[in-house]
Amino acid sequence: MNIVVLTGAGMSAESGINTFRDSNGLWENHDIMEVASPEGFAKDPELVLDFYNKRRKQLLEVQPNAAHKALVELEQNHDVTIITQNVDDLHERAGSTNVVHLHGELLKVRSTGNENTILDWKKDLNLGDCCDENHQLRPHVVWFGEMVPMMNYATNYVIEADVLIVIGTSMQVYPAAALIQYAADNVPIYFVDPNPSIQSSEQISVFAEKASKGVPKVIAAIEKLTV
Ligand code: APR
Repeated sequence: MNIVVLTGAGMSAESGINTFRDSNGLWENHDIMEVASPEGFAKDPELVLDFYNKRRKQLLEVQPNAAHKALVELEQNHDVTIITQNVDDLHERAGSTNVVHLHGELLKVRSTGNENTILDWKKDLNLGDCCDENHQLRPHVVWFGEMVPMMNYATNYVIEADVLIVIGTSMQVYPAAALIQYAADNVPIYFVDPNPSIQSSEQISVFAEKASKGVPKVIAAIEKLTV
């Protein structure tokens, strides 16, 4: 089967990375617009770079959790595509092979002068760090108000899905939240979130629990579909 998995911040919560909307709209004590918008970057680039430097350091200290690992097992019997809103690389480190990053990647940076110049980056990024053409580098993340270049690509995967799994997202940020609407009417949708934003229906089965508990149950349910 062709299984598409849409993941949000809750997927990485049990690895020790805080979600966004569980902390009063603040992201690690910052107003989201201050650190995740082009306006915020224009106003105080040093603060924004420092913020992502801290996130990058934290990412290098955490590990994939049981839910990331459970999704890797699905690849033994199925074609699996993970569409993640997360900028971490925990799906890849767990071993998932087909991961689409809708909102960019923390371990990459790109040129502010040429969006096609994208570099791997594990260290701190500072003012004065430039591409070969001498433009300042910025985090390779999609900020509020920016285009989501991978959206069409992700939408096509959802259109083709036989099963859709949604894990750990408040479904509040568009266009990502609109993705599940592209699933065909007969496609089962499994939703794992301890504080789910949608209810069970004929098409949707909600597992109101943490990813590490809910994902193995979803996988067991999917394996029953195939026998
Ligand atoms: N397992 C599963 N889900 C969890 C867990 C867990 N252990 N812990 C928390 N959650 C759920 C919360 O109940 C919430 O519904 O994860 C969800 C996190 O929601 P958000 O913080 O809004 O994260 P997300 O939906 O990924 O945000 C989307 O917003 O700030 C932007 O670009 C950023 O990609 C991000 C986007």
